[in-house]
Amino acid sequence: MNAHPTQAAQTTESDARPFVEFRDVWLAYNEELLQANQFAVEAIDLHIRQGEFIAIVGPSGCGKSTFMKLTTGLKMPSIGRIRIDGQPVTGPLKISGMAFQSPSLLPWRTTVDNVLLPLEIVEPYRSSFKKNRKEYEARARRLLQKVGLAGYEDKYPWELSGGMQQRASICRALIHEPKMLLLDEPFGALDAFTREELWCILRDLWTEQQFNVILVTHDLRESVFLADTVYVMSKSPGRFVVKREIDLPRPRELEVTYTKDFTDLVLELRGHIGAIRQGSPAAAGQAVISQ
Ligand SMILES: Nc1ncnc2c1ncn2[C@@H]1O[C@H](COP(=O)(O)OP(=O)(O)O)[C@@H](O)[C@H]1O
Ligand SMILES: [Mg+2]
Repeated sequence: MNAHPTQAAQTTESDARPFVEFRDVWLAYNEELLQANQFAVEAIDLHIRQGEFIAIVGPSGCGKSTFMKLTTGLKMPSIGRIRIDGQPVTGPLKISGMAFQSPSLLPWRTTVDNVLLPLEIVEPYRSSFKKNRKEYEARARRLLQKVGLAGYEDKYPWELSGGMQQRASICRALIHEPKMLLLDEPFGALDAFTREELWCILRDLWTEQQFNVILVTHDLRESVFLADTVYVMSKSPGRFVVKREIDLPRPRELEVTYTKDFTDLVLELRGHIGAIRQGSPAAAGQAVISQ
């Protein structure tokens, strides 16, 4: 497993077209809140490179899920512009896959049939699903094997552990080969060992398939282990206040989490979160801008 192209290319933000671009984006959830200048997120300026893995950390209610909704086009900004893959976002995007804290597999479908579900629903797969079912099923089975679920393809969700269900739900998010994977606290409900196993599975899928990842997490170690860039958000106002590039070399093995470089990064992020919790996001932001 060699370096990911985003590391190899070493392009600067200005000379590569960003894959995701937010320009001064603000969102109020409704007209009333807009009139009252109550924004769920505000002043988001963001460039994400093609293939970049970003993590977002921040307190509950700071706007992480709102950011995800904006990125997938489920919500339109009240102010500002969003472009993804060179196109302005005007409605729900098909180029993304999503997974959440709860795996939400359908109990009456086997694992492989759960993974196939998006292809039965989303065009261009939907209209040719019956015709291509064999090929799609082979793809789903390959993906399940890749995440260590060989032998569980034809079992039902209740026959799988929580970690296995979450693996299946990541396969479901990737079955249509999206350019972007959005993960909203996907490993939050798992025990520490299972969580670290899933970090490695996600790392390997990403290294191989080179999609963009936006990972929302409460786990600072998780963000440092997986991401190229960690963003810290503040609450009230819901803003991106810290951008921290994670320069740990890749490929990263779990051993890196016991090194000083790793713990220093985690502690630095912890410091920013602490500053935000004490109500001084500006101070946290300044600490990073001066880096
Ligand atoms: N559908 C909604 N209508 C009105 N306000 C909302 C809605 N969804 C979220 N909010 C508000 O937007 C802010 C950000 O919420 P959210 O993005 O869910 O935060 P997080 O995911 O970081 O916990 C919160 O103040 C929340 O109450
Ligand atoms: Mg949320």
